[in-house]
Amino acid sequence: MTEQKATNITWHEADITRETREKMLNQKGAVLWFTGLSGSGKSTLAHAVEKKLFETGHLTYVLDGDNIRHGLNKNLGFSPEDREENIRRIGEVAKLFTDAGVIAMTAFISPYRTDRDKARSLVDKGRFIEIFCQCALDECEKRDPKGLYKKARAGEIKQFTGIDAPYEAPEAPEIVIETDKLTLAESVDHVLAFLEKVAII
Ligand code: ADX
Repeated sequence: MTEQKATNITWHEADITRETREKMLNQKGAVLWFTGLSGSGKSTLAHAVEKKLFETGHLTYVLDGDNIRHGLNKNLGFSPEDREENIRRIGEVAKLFTDAGVIAMTAFISPYRTDRDKARSLVDKGRFIEIFCQCALDECEKRDPKGLYKKARAGEIKQFTGIDAPYEAPEAPEIVIETDKLTLAESVDHVLAFLEKVAII
């Protein structure tokens, strides 16, 4: 699925570079890659971080699993192959945002370690910040904001992550947020402190 099909194509180097744009924006382009089970708080945290960053004059964009699956990735389901392609495309889009100098936040389960690592390998070192939204399955199931765990338990949804499809937790994420222990405000502070520490903002 990921082979190079087109031939006779040439890479064009732009005159306006990432560095030029970053200077204008007064930030570094980066990917904040939120990963975790459905209901672990990825989207909530990504949007809350975005709000804070935006308020302090930063240019951001959230790529959110359910939304992207309405458009760019509407032809993909939840088989392992489709999830891989889902994450491959998002990794490429996130790379473009980084090149644009934007702080992109991706909120996808992204259950496979190798797929996340491939996305990481697309951007320069230090610009991919993996944020593990750690939350016990029990708690995600209790929250069940979309009623999907209930359906999965009833066998109405197959291959549901955490129930009958795997989730491979990150081994060395830049940030771990225990969303079942911290408040949202504490979680946001944690992410922002990290971004300041590594001079993304
Ligand atoms: S991923 O595994 O390919 O990264 P993604 O984050 O895009 O998943 O989409 C996950 C969202 O799709 C969940 O939050 C949930 O709302 C919905 N969903 C529907 N079916 C499934 C399923 N079988 N497994 C996981 N999530 C599902």
